[in-house]
Amino acid sequence: MSKPEKIVAIKGMNDILPSDAPLWELFENTTETILKSYGYQKIVTPIVEQTSLFSRAIGAVTDIVEKEMYSFEDSMNGDQLTLRPEGTASVVRAVLEHNLVYDGPRRLWYKGPMFRHERPQRGRYRQFFQFGAEAIGFSGPDIDAELIMMCRRLWDDLGIENVRLELNSIGNAEERQRHRADLIAYLEQHDSILDAEAKRRLHSNPLRILDTKNPAMQEMVNAAPRLLDYLGEESLAHFNGVKFLLDQNAVQYTVNPRLVRGLDYYNRTVFEWVTDALGSQGTICAGGRYDPLVETFGGKATPAVGFAMGMERIIELMKAMGEPAEPNQCDVYMVHQGEKAQLQAFILAERIRDAGLDVVLHCATPAGAGSFKSQMKKADGSGAAFAVIIGEDEVANETAAVKTMRGEIGEQQQSTVPFLEVVDYLVDQITGAHVHDEHCGHDHDHVHKH
Ligand code: HAM
Repeated sequence: MSKPEKIVAIKGMNDILPSDAPLWELFENTTETILKSYGYQKIVTPIVEQTSLFSRAIGAVTDIVEKEMYSFEDSMNGDQLTLRPEGTASVVRAVLEHNLVYDGPRRLWYKGPMFRHERPQRGRYRQFFQFGAEAIGFSGPDIDAELIMMCRRLWDDLGIENVRLELNSIGNAEERQRHRADLIAYLEQHDSILDAEAKRRLHSNPLRILDTKNPAMQEMVNAAPRLLDYLGEESLAHFNGVKFLLDQNAVQYTVNPRLVRGLDYYNRTVFEWVTDALGSQGTICAGGRYDPLVETFGGKATPAVGFAMGMERIIELMKAMGEPAEPNQCDVYMVHQGEKAQLQAFILAERIRDAGLDVVLHCATPAGAGSFKSQMKKADGSGAAFAVIIGEDEVANETAAVKTMRGEIGEQQQSTVPFLEVVDYLVDQITGAHVHDEHCGHDHDHVHKH
């Protein structure tokens, strides 16, 4: 019989392997702790939504909606559905659907996979994870600055140093309209320099032309009319308010008048955290205000602002900085030889777990349970602090050999401990805290390890 063909992952969609999992956990735990400390609450929305949610929120003439969405027809009822390309639209939908801002504003956070049919390259994937925060119902510059400060706290806590903040204001719809007319006129004067993409965008989304990476167009777009010069009094005051708070908190930033973002829902403040350490996909976090979006969905006018971080990019940055991936370590590895010993080890492992310790039991493979020697090798590789060893003699004496694993070979010690005392012995050794006898077995308080 011929070997069946291997099935591999879809291009641009990654497995997160156990060797990377500790870094992801570190990133997620740190972010969640910080978000919580600023009063953000978790929200989880579905991965699939009505296609119209995204086309309406993100804008019909954006890269995402024009060419990157995974959309399909529900074969059961003909509904047009899409795998979410981002989280903001879903959060706003959920806020309106469940009336979450009826008694005041909300700070929300989410994390999860997003899907965009982009050309895969380093840092750009078709399934990628975002960690996002959305503050809905706040209008002042204080919340914009707070969101940015929250990011900076995260970089500090993760030890990420080489990122910079780019900031801009894209004003309100009316201000953009006035700028747009002048921008189109300017771009038409430079028609010969425009590339095909820019020509296509000239009348549909000219602001995006300012974002071009084409070197031949840089000088021309640098001299283009700046949206910042079209801001009215209120937009300007808001922008100055954000900058003032950042200055007061010693947050460094560059005002980049060409920062326009690729989604249509933004107004006023927009920002990106960028690093040079990741090649061309260096934006690790991006966001801004989207005051008009709630109304677009039929809600009453409610200001909002938020950001999303690309988790793969941040993990890669942490790796590039040499962030040590803490191996998954357990407290105890159970080694056994013989049928009776195996049963004892199985039972004892459960009792040790009842006491709150992490235990890996050596289990049989198609090659069998393996010799003591090979099991001890596994115990070594598990990173366990102790090996609990049960063989025929131990079963006969109702004892276990408990061996320290992490010291130098010469320092490793082995003690003989009666079965009934193994749990307390390990808890004592690992925590230094004595657990009283009346708390034995299932009643053991979970221990606090240091
Ligand atoms: P975005 O700029 O489209 O904004 O994405 C935010 C971040 O997600 C990017 O800065 C990047 O780190 C990451 N990202 C985007 N696309 C990919 C990809 N193909 N592969 C890997 N990482 C990627 C938003 O999604 C907005 N919803 C952000 C926001 C929230 N604005 C207000 N609230």
